[in-house]
Amino acid sequence: QDRETGRLLQAYEWSEKFYHFLLKNTEHGRPALEYLRGRGIGDKLIDQFRIGFAPDRWDTLVQFLDKRSFDLAEMEKGGLISARQSGDGYVDRFRSRIIFPIANRSGKTIAFAGRILGEGHPKYVNSPESRLFNKSRVLYNFDQARSAIRKQRQVILFEGYGDVIAAWEAGVHNGVATMGTSLTEQHAAMIKTAADEVLVCYDGDNAGQNAALKSIPILEQAGLQVKIAMLPPGVDPDDYIRSHGKERFMRQVVEDAASTTKFRLANLRRNYKLSEESGRLDYAKAGLPVIAALSSPTEREVYLRELSSEVDISFESLKQDCNLIRQEQHRPAPGQEDPGPAYSGPQSGG
Ligand code: UTP
Ligand code: MN
Ligand code: MN
Ligand code: MN
Ligand code: MN
Repeated sequence: QDRETGRLLQAYEWSEKFYHFLLKNTEHGRPALEYLRGRGIGDKLIDQFRIGFAPDRWDTLVQFLDKRSFDLAEMEKGGLISARQSGDGYVDRFRSRIIFPIANRSGKTIAFAGRILGEGHPKYVNSPESRLFNKSRVLYNFDQARSAIRKQRQVILFEGYGDVIAAWEAGVHNGVATMGTSLTEQHAAMIKTAADEVLVCYDGDNAGQNAALKSIPILEQAGLQVKIAMLPPGVDPDDYIRSHGKERFMRQVVEDAASTTKFRLANLRRNYKLSEESGRLDYAKAGLPVIAALSSPTEREVYLRELSSEVDISFESLKQDCNLIRQEQHRPAPGQEDPGPAYSGPQSGG
């Protein structure tokens, strides 16, 4: 690790402590403390997640770093502060925002996420990428969750910081979140170092459900088992825990999580009117390829039976169609015909 990296890590650590102090011990922090309390985030969680507050001033952090002889140009390059728009000098990047420190896997702070108090745009501002911070390789709370993840061999993947924190309070200590970006292969590989299974627990809105759909192949390709938690429309895990309590969250969201097939089918179903015959037929047509792609005959049977009762079409007919679709799915593309096991044509490697 080079010197500049070392200095930057030190600066992030001090800045994190400074923001934490400002939240807890100064007049500036009071509205933020109130806001957090209103969201059920009290002293214990504030300490656990080292939450802080950046006051509504231009140069609080700039002055703090300057007094401690950090090189401000270096700090700007490291994403901690911003260059002034016009003229020389530097200004704070976060103003009047609650600060959530982002740690690397060894627990060292490498970035911040700042949330506005109440409503407003943008809701969150993140530190830019830097020599310390690459958001496609960082999962919020992975450092603190790691021991629970190893024990349970499972990760619960959330969309937001608030979800991770609310779940932690509810006793779920294997929760992590991406940084407002989609899940990457690197994230999946990182999860695979400690877990065998991922429970995707994204928001119950369209954005969340679409993000969950996209995450499935990425996780599966990393060799992880995937389950999807289904939340009511418009509700996120944090909201759910606050309005229904942790017991119900554990029972109805975590334990009742769906298989990826069940989730895909449920997701398709929303687009059709099952009260109409044409809607049922269209849903069956859309759902069959999902079922046909399953390699296990038992699993195919389970979902075909469910589909049969939903669309009021006989199991036998659906099964026949399903088998036709399987033949299609397994037909090689033109020009790429599989020569089959008997083929013993020219061998490469001479
Ligand atoms: P959400 O809009 O679901 O926010 O975005 P949230 O986490 O539920 O926020 P609260 O509960 O209102 O505080 C999910 C995640 O997307 C990223 C953040 O990581 C957020 O946690 N995001 C969202 C941003 O980076 N910027 C934004 O402006 C909004
Ligand atoms: Mn503390
Ligand atoms: Mn969301
Ligand atoms: Mn949310
Ligand atoms: Mn939320």
